[in-house]
Amino acid sequence: MAATKTLVICKSVHHNNTAWVAHTIADVLGAVVLTPEEVPYASLDDYDLIGFGSGVYYGSFHEALWSWVRGLPNQRLPQKPAFLFSTSGLSCLWKFWHGPFTRALTRKGFDIIGDFHCRGFDAWGPLWLVGGINRRHPDERDLSRAAEFARRIQTAIKAG
Ligand SMILES: Cc1cc2nc3c(=O)[nH]c(=O)nc-3n(C[C@H](O)[C@H](O)[C@H](O)COP(=O)(O)O)c2cc1C
Repeated sequence: MAATKTLVICKSVHHNNTAWVAHTIADVLGAVVLTPEEVPYASLDDYDLIGFGSGVYYGSFHEALWSWVRGLPNQRLPQKPAFLFSTSGLSCLWKFWHGPFTRALTRKGFDIIGDFHCRGFDAWGPLWLVGGINRRHPDERDLSRAAEFARRIQTAIKAG
């Protein structure tokens, strides 16, 4: 069977927290990591699996990722498998942040086969005054969970 060609589209602008996760996942999957600005829609046909990653900014994925998804033509068929991941300062709400983005991807014809979240160092706004929260995150444990997530995605893809 030919290797699964995987693209990870990631926007990480605060401390590269999500970029660490993106590269950990990409290493397992043998994927290319690009920003939304670097991915023309036509190039999607070159990939079998797409990952979407972002830091959380004002309670949402980065606007560049949103605008890339909004610009996609509706209902690309056949459905393409995809997964998403994020990092944020306050981790307890991650499912609320993933929900709208998952629904937008589904509307555009992606089949979401998994998602992942971990804490990221956050020194935004007043948090800067106290030295930030989640210092050193994502840490080794977060990244090993990310790698484990990528292995599960790989298994799911192979199982078809
Ligand atoms: C402008 C801005 C807005 C943010 N808004 C939120 C937020 O609404 N909720 C949250 O939990 N964290 C928020 N954060 C913290 C980031 O989600 C967190 O630091 C994340 O790991 C950043 O990822 P990055 O380093 O990949 O950009 C915000 C950070 C910035 C810079």
